[in-house]
Amino acid sequence: MLAEVLKSDITRLDVDAIVNAANRSLLGGGGVDGAIHRAAGPGLLEECGKFGHCDTGKAVITKAYNLPCRHVIHTPGSVWRGGGNGEAELLKSCYMSCLSLACDYELETIAFPSISTGIYGFPLREASHIAVFTVFSWNKDFPRKVIFVTFSEEATEIYREVLSRFNVR
Ligand code: APR
Repeated sequence: MLAEVLKSDITRLDVDAIVNAANRSLLGGGGVDGAIHRAAGPGLLEECGKFGHCDTGKAVITKAYNLPCRHVIHTPGSVWRGGGNGEAELLKSCYMSCLSLACDYELETIAFPSISTGIYGFPLREASHIAVFTVFSWNKDFPRKVIFVTFSEEATEIYREVLSRFNVR
């Protein structure tokens, strides 16, 4: 699995799929969810509405409309409640569900934001470990490359440090 860290606005990436840190309603919100819906346009909200909802840790895939990427994979992350309520397992499930859809659709490159580490309050370092270890444990043919998209210097440094343990900078 190829992987890299990229500090960027995820809505600008021309990749097969970007992952949206959504909520269970799939009806948009703030953070990266808001940015993706703003950039994609109303067609994305209309398609998301057809799913009704998406459970935490699960994922759905839609078209990307006005975004430069081909698909958006929406996954509701886990809200941090102190760490003793299965938050880590649910966050791992987000990554697994997204990777599974990328594999089903034979997507070459997908870009993940740092799911749950904003409004949902998941500690950044623990979340980055879950993200990177889950991706590097994935052993299917697709996706071939994962981009961990960071939105702050702190997140970039943390993801780079975790990825370096896999000899990746
Ligand atoms: N590009 C890349 N990363 C971004 C962007 C962007 N344009 N905007 C925000 N981020 C980063 C944040 O800095 C954070 O590290 O995405 C990560 C996830 O933060 P949130 O978007 O707040 O998502 P999350 O913590 O999973 O909370 C989800 O927030 O937006 C609502 O509807 C959403 O209810 C859901 C909740």
